[in-house]
Amino acid sequence: MSKALEGVKILDFTHVQSGPTCTQLLAWFGADVIKVERPGAGDATRAQLQDLPDVDSLYFTMLNHNKRSITLDSKTPKGKEVLWRLVKECDVLVENFAPGALARMGLTWEKIHEANPRMILASVKGFGPGRYEECKVYENVAQCAGGSASTTGFRDGIPMVTGAQIGDSGTGLHLALGIVTALFHRTVTGLGQKVDCAMQDSVLNLCRVKLRDQQRLDHGPLTEYSQFGEGIPFGDSTPRAGNDSGGGQPGRILKCKGWEHDPNAYLYFITQAAVWAPICDIIGEPGWKTDPGYATPKARLPHLNEIFTRIEAWTMKHDKFEAMDILNEYDIPCGPILSMKEIAADESLRKTGTIVEVEHPTRGTYLTVGNPIKLSASPSEVTRSPLLGEHTDEILRSVLKYTDAEVDEIAHSGVVGRIEKIAAE
Ligand code: COA
Repeated sequence: MSKALEGVKILDFTHVQSGPTCTQLLAWFGADVIKVERPGAGDATRAQLQDLPDVDSLYFTMLNHNKRSITLDSKTPKGKEVLWRLVKECDVLVENFAPGALARMGLTWEKIHEANPRMILASVKGFGPGRYEECKVYENVAQCAGGSASTTGFRDGIPMVTGAQIGDSGTGLHLALGIVTALFHRTVTGLGQKVDCAMQDSVLNLCRVKLRDQQRLDHGPLTEYSQFGEGIPFGDSTPRAGNDSGGGQPGRILKCKGWEHDPNAYLYFITQAAVWAPICDIIGEPGWKTDPGYATPKARLPHLNEIFTRIEAWTMKHDKFEAMDILNEYDIPCGPILSMKEIAADESLRKTGTIVEVEHPTRGTYLTVGNPIKLSASPSEVTRSPLLGEHTDEILRSVLKYTDAEVDEIAHSGVVGRIEKIAAE
């Protein structure tokens, strides 16, 4: 079976997390992703959070599958020459350097467009144009500046960041969509274009419901928030809502059997209006089905604490999986709080390729997250991340058509690394 993006060549000038998640997705869909790295060092994440000495970190391996690596020094004339050959050869250049870094290498949009009018230039920056456009930005900065932190956590606690990497991986996803959209547009116009994604914007896009609530506040209190039922007045901005659901169906995280010693013995429970009757029966409060104080969603809003305390008395009698089985019989929406240990062992996730085992020459076998987007006619196959400079020779010869003599000359010039591993031996 052919891959959906087969034939698309990506000049991957990304590092750390946001850019690499984008190019990894494109690689999973079959694009030829050529990762350009600095000789001797490579992507900084290769050496960050290392769990094994002299082995590419999981941070790097889990963000750079299915790619090829070439090492070159983009600040030397020879390195620049190779880089420009790549620009002319590839369809997309993806980068997430600090603002201005690409232009300092001489790679401005005007020059790129002139050298290869079909090329798409895709960039991640922390902020779009404005007062913070020159700032360097990492994940949690974007979560804070994009509205996520101010709306995450409990009302009486400090703002919180989330474990999901919505600033980095979230922006990578947005950028990937921008790139395939520009590739589609190119089939009509024949021309490339710039694709810009700011991490602040991507986080805000994912926090859309919180901006919705900001505007609803102008017209009265947010009645589905627990805060409303507790009689606590609202301020002038969307508050932190703990584990309340973001929609109109009240939900909470409740203790299950074993919570005293297991930090993840919890269940998310949603009191969806359509299944209120079976909920009342299951928790032993059949009278609440008709009692005017509980029978309608509106009537229940001031009693949410009481209602969830009663539901929790029931969930605490069952472990999270048992509770899930019982509730699903009645289509009552709920979700077990799964630990990473439980997810790693999940048979269904392994069967679908969402959790995969990968073999790596220096690390051995490790687990990673495969492509969460499943295409029926071109399924993804996860292959290991490249060693630093592993494909330098191959790319110089087969992609850029340098002769053997030229490859030797370049490799020995010190500005373009050969297979770094071999060079180091
Ligand atoms: N050869 C020679 N030099 C290279 C090179 C190569 N192959 N690859 C990169 N470099 C140089 C760049 O030219 C730049 O040098 P300059 O500042 O002298 O122009 C430098 O390495 C890299 O710059 P920078 O991007 O500033 O790295 P950093 O480690 O200082 O900052 C970030 C890291 C992530 C904060 C920054 O890149 C950034 O803000 N990126 C945009 C937002 C983003 O993606 N953040 C999330 C990261 S997960």
